[in-house]
Amino acid sequence: MFASLPTRIALSALLLAPSILLAADRSGKEVVESVCIACHGTGKDGAPRIGNATDWAPRAAKGLDKLSQNAITGVRKMPAHGGQAKLTDLEMSRATAYMISGGVTPDTAKPYATTTKGSGEHIVDIACGGCHKEGKGGAPKIGDLEAWRPRLQKGMDGLVTSATSGHNGMPARGGFADMSDSDIRAAVSFMVSKISGPTKP
Ligand code: HEC
Ligand code: HEC
Repeated sequence: MFASLPTRIALSALLLAPSILLAADRSGKEVVESVCIACHGTGKDGAPRIGNATDWAPRAAKGLDKLSQNAITGVRKMPAHGGQAKLTDLEMSRATAYMISGGVTPDTAKPYATTTKGSGEHIVDIACGGCHKEGKGGAPKIGDLEAWRPRLQKGMDGLVTSATSGHNGMPARGGFADMSDSDIRAAVSFMVSKISGPTKP
């Protein structure tokens, strides 16, 4: 089925819309004090303590990019996203910088690092297709304009937020806590691009 021209134009506008910084992103201080402190306050399981230069020194060589990325994907006893799938990459980056500096480093405006599991198509294949190919549990089917039409009104950012935080039968990050925000955005973009059908060269 081919989407009508106006629909296709609306869909392309949606895909091209610049991503806006969501006001919901919390400061490094807020995230550390509500989530990370549980382990990084006392040094539970060997977690480097907040603002403790000696604890962090052996890890310093990795740089904020790599350290943030490890906090996002998880490393040994450090759970992915600090165990909170809803935390965005930006929040994780801010929290990491806050912890290492003891509050001296100002909050960043963009994530230090974003992991990527590959193209949107690949991510959909490994993480989303299980439900979205057949429409399992009411999941909007890939390519089905009617199933997606009412949801498209939320815009790209709204859809990415639903997929990141979870929405009714849709598990947060498709159930993969180590999926980064950019992975989720790529997967949603791919799914949305399939609705518009093939475009003329
Ligand atoms: C359930 C306990 C726990 C929570 C909650 C937790 N961490 Fe950790 N974290 C650890 C442990 C344990 C390590 C040490 C892992 C290792 O290197 O073996 C660690 C290590 C780290 C590292 C260093 C990674 C590296 O590559 O050396 C960073 C950065 C980090 N945590 C960030 C965070 C942030 C940000 C939060 C809050 C959003 C958080 N952690 C919440 C337990 C926790
Ligand atoms: C376990 C099944 C399952 C998996 C896996 C899954 N989804 Fe979903 N998804 C659903 C269901 C069910 C809904 C419909 C929920 C509702 O009523 O809004 C949905 C809805 C959505 C929506 C629309 C949300 C809205 O606000 O209307 C998006 C976008 C989405 N999924 C993206 C993804 C992405 C991206 C992945 C892979 C990373 C994924 N889903 C993996 C079941 C799943």
